[in-house]
Amino acid sequence: MALQRPKGTRDHLPDGSPQLKLDVSARAFKHVTDTAARVLERGGAAFIATPLFEEAELVKRGVGGSTDIVRKEMFMVYYFGDHGGYVLRPEGTAGLVRAYLENGLKQLPSPLKLWTHGPMFRAENVQKGRLRQFHQVDYEVLGSADALVDAEAIWLMVQVVRELGLTGVQVRLGSIGDPQDRDTYNAYLRELFTPHLERLSDDSRDRLERNPMRILDSKSAGDQTLIAELSVKPMLDFLGAEARTHFEAVRGHLDSWKVAYEVDPSIVRGLDYYRRTAWELHHAHIGAKSALGGGGRYDGLAKELGGPETPGIGWAFGTERILLAMEQEGLSLPAAEGPLVYIAALDAGQVPLAARVALGLRSVMRADFGYKPQKPGNAFREGERRGAVFTALIGSDEAAAGTVALKHMASGEQLSVPVGELSALLLARPS
Ligand code: HAM
Repeated sequence: MALQRPKGTRDHLPDGSPQLKLDVSARAFKHVTDTAARVLERGGAAFIATPLFEEAELVKRGVGGSTDIVRKEMFMVYYFGDHGGYVLRPEGTAGLVRAYLENGLKQLPSPLKLWTHGPMFRAENVQKGRLRQFHQVDYEVLGSADALVDAEAIWLMVQVVRELGLTGVQVRLGSIGDPQDRDTYNAYLRELFTPHLERLSDDSRDRLERNPMRILDSKSAGDQTLIAELSVKPMLDFLGAEARTHFEAVRGHLDSWKVAYEVDPSIVRGLDYYRRTAWELHHAHIGAKSALGGGGRYDGLAKELGGPETPGIGWAFGTERILLAMEQEGLSLPAAEGPLVYIAALDAGQVPLAARVALGLRSVMRADFGYKPQKPGNAFREGERRGAVFTALIGSDEAAAGTVALKHMASGEQLSVPVGELSALLLARPS
């Protein structure tokens, strides 16, 4: 059996792994989710966790039957040779809105801000930054149609990448309009593309019938050439008065908070549930086609899923793409935290005692111990390798006296400390 992970998946590895780069570092991965947690929870978002698989019908209704995700990229869940109509979630929003509706979260203070992170699955052609199992940090707000909520969502997304230290990011902001604006735009696109039917890819011919706007999102080079030749007018030109007022209000807030963005009149996004505000977060080194993240308003989604009318907005970024951008910018992580103290026994008889002292300290600090007896030189080297601030030795003399021989690694200073006083002394000397 080949020891090989499935195509389009990643292992995120601990520090010290051979040839570890930042984009597969587990500590970097955790740093991204910890940073997102800090920023989003300071902003009032509550953590929520939903299943990794959902009813296929829910995803289809939510994401949209004409999207690439639903048409080509869904992983069915099989068991005992059959499938119960479930798919691995390709994104988080549909499941999260389902959870909101099913669990009566409407009763919580509104608007309700939620965030989650976890794996998403899309059976895509694997390439740089495009995986089959990837992770998203996802922020969603339910219960308000106020433009202020849109602007705050964008601010939070920018704040997460800022706190990660990324500088080469750009927000591209647009609007998909209201459903009637989208109908007008689709009618325009149908008229424009129909005379060129033979030049469109098979997929886009189908899109022309179901949802012409999806043609603009096509990955086919031929389609993109035709789009450029026809000088297709952007969605933004078709906004109705209400959607335009909303868009201007979002811009007004962002301008007043000095959040930099560019208006991207042709933004379409790859999912069907969007209305009005839509944006993407791009990065200079990740390539024009691959966004670090994206989001938008989806006021019609709850109703589409069978619930009451509930306005909503949110965004997600791809954790692996963020890591790739951090790697490209040469960012470094905060220093790894090794144990504050490493405790080694000098003889086999003292190993259980070393373990007991370490376990006792763990309620207030990081403490580790050696599973085998070690000579002092080896114990100090081991403590250093693990990043310990202190190394403590326990031999038969120390065991008899109820003490440890403690070394402060940075200064080399050594002293004998009663076990009962160890915790206070270590906490008082943290570096
Ligand atoms: P999305 O634009 O499909 O939006 O995905 C958001 C981000 O997930 C992308 O910008 C990218 O960073 C990452 N991503 C997507 N596909 C892949 C892939 N195959 N490999 C690696 N990373 C990927 C959504 O999923 C929406 N649910 C966002 C949202 C939340 N809208 C409203 N609320």
